[in-house]
Amino acid sequence: MSVLMNQLAETTAFIKQKINTDASVGIILGSGLGNLANEITIDCSIPYSEIPHFPVSTVEGHGGSLMLGELSGKKVWVMSGRFHYYEGYTPQQVTYPVRVMHLLGVKTLLLSNAAGGVNPAFSVGDLMVITDHISMFVVNPLLGKNEDALGTRFPDMSEPYSKVLVAKAMQIAADNGIQLKQGVYTGVTGPTFETRAEYKMIHALGGDAVGMSTVQENIVAVHCGMQVFATSVITDLGIREEENVITHEEVLQAAKEAEPKLTLLFKALVAGL
Ligand code: HPA
Repeated sequence: MSVLMNQLAETTAFIKQKINTDASVGIILGSGLGNLANEITIDCSIPYSEIPHFPVSTVEGHGGSLMLGELSGKKVWVMSGRFHYYEGYTPQQVTYPVRVMHLLGVKTLLLSNAAGGVNPAFSVGDLMVITDHISMFVVNPLLGKNEDALGTRFPDMSEPYSKVLVAKAMQIAADNGIQLKQGVYTGVTGPTFETRAEYKMIHALGGDAVGMSTVQENIVAVHCGMQVFATSVITDLGIREEENVITHEEVLQAAKEAEPKLTLLFKALVAGL
């Protein structure tokens, strides 16, 4: 077995010895978006620091534990706090928990993130369901020897986000009077926010939002055959012409304000899985 597969085996054995479950849904919560965890009846919460081979989260606004609990009558794995490339983790470390979830039996992965809007029709506080992404500005986590036990060398990326789940989300939003945008998420490394010229370029390239997470996790999830659903909370607008200083505090504040809509959406989506 490869080093990676050995580590994954150790990690999953450790988790399974703590809790035995057939949960098939995994959720990774983004910056300032950890409150969904409060809606979950927690069976078990394991600090990342205790899990063999797990990276440890350092950024403000990110908790750090893997939880198993019940949401909308379904058992779910939840990561409150994720790992980012800009923190200094390798793409393999950033995506390690996704592979762990896969080996624990997760088939559907739900992701949330805070993102900058570059579509002029967007406002701060909007939710954008991700229909597709642009990953070329980030390091592909599948570079290197392929792990055949996890997935194929050249994964198809024609449907990185499940169309069925996007349609369900739109229906849930319509039923609950929530306005839901759809769009293309552009992954960047950060940690700088983009320059004015970069926000414009991202829009010109076909992006509707830009953020520092999600894309690498998505690629690894698709590689191992999961269906993925992801939503961005638009926390700032990169393409405003007026003075447009963006701070992490502003991003967290906007995420907090939009969070109840996101929580409702995720709860209803999980109920229908
Ligand atoms: N750019 C990149 N990442 C982000 C942004 C942004 O404007 N807002 C929240 N995360």
